[in-house]
Amino acid sequence: MSNKKELQICPAQGMMRGKKEEERGIRFMIGIIGAMPVEVDKLIEAMEETSRETVSMVQFHQGVLAGVPVVVACCGAGKVCSAVCAQTMILKYAPRLIINLGVAGGIGPQVKIGDLVVATAVLQHDFDTSDLGEEKFLLPLLNKTSLEADERVSGLLVECAREVYPGGVHRGVVATGDQFIGSPERLRLISRETGALACEMEGGSIGHACALAGVPFAVVRAISDNADAHAVIDFPQFARESAQKSMTFLMKALPRL
Ligand code: ADE
Repeated sequence: MSNKKELQICPAQGMMRGKKEEERGIRFMIGIIGAMPVEVDKLIEAMEETSRETVSMVQFHQGVLAGVPVVVACCGAGKVCSAVCAQTMILKYAPRLIINLGVAGGIGPQVKIGDLVVATAVLQHDFDTSDLGEEKFLLPLLNKTSLEADERVSGLLVECAREVYPGGVHRGVVATGDQFIGSPERLRLISRETGALACEMEGGSIGHACALAGVPFAVVRAISDNADAHAVIDFPQFARESAQKSMTFLMKALPRL
């Protein structure tokens, strides 16, 4: 047997440090990640920014938003950019929670453009080692096919969303992949295999990075299109409006989280 010492680093220890600080009356940071500038620009404009730094081409804006200490970043689209951003945020800022917000394609006739979807769990619909006999979507190390969003925070987000927008608020699985979904065939397959209410390109990978590090996460998405043949027309038309909705909503919800 080797005498080598194994050093285990769990980034969530940052949260334990945060807890002590909280006991002394100091609230710890909430991390907020959006993929496109249009998904975070109003938050960055509205916050009292105290510092800004760029790591791996992503700007991290630290400050106070709606009275809450936050760090906000725009990560770029897709699973790699978003996972790198989440991991950097965890290691550098030790957030007590990471919220991913933005827009998504709605799945199913009940999920309409402009509606909000709060994730109960996230999964990666393009993670597939089933040809090797594994369960589809099964993630290494975590050994899970989907990752649960923080129940308390997601519950509060839904409660708050229903107060602000009566009607048009859904709670369910969000499916993530490195593809913009804009065809009925791919949409049907994702819907059948995952039962998701929305598809997007970052929630599952941000959740993945958070789960590896033991950091709670939540995902809030406003629907910009229905991930069908019309999505390429709807997305550019409704992305700004829907992104605005998720930002306005988050600013209202933040002080309660
Ligand atoms: N984000 C917004 N709409 C989307 C779609 N149809 N597919 C993937 N990500 C999206």
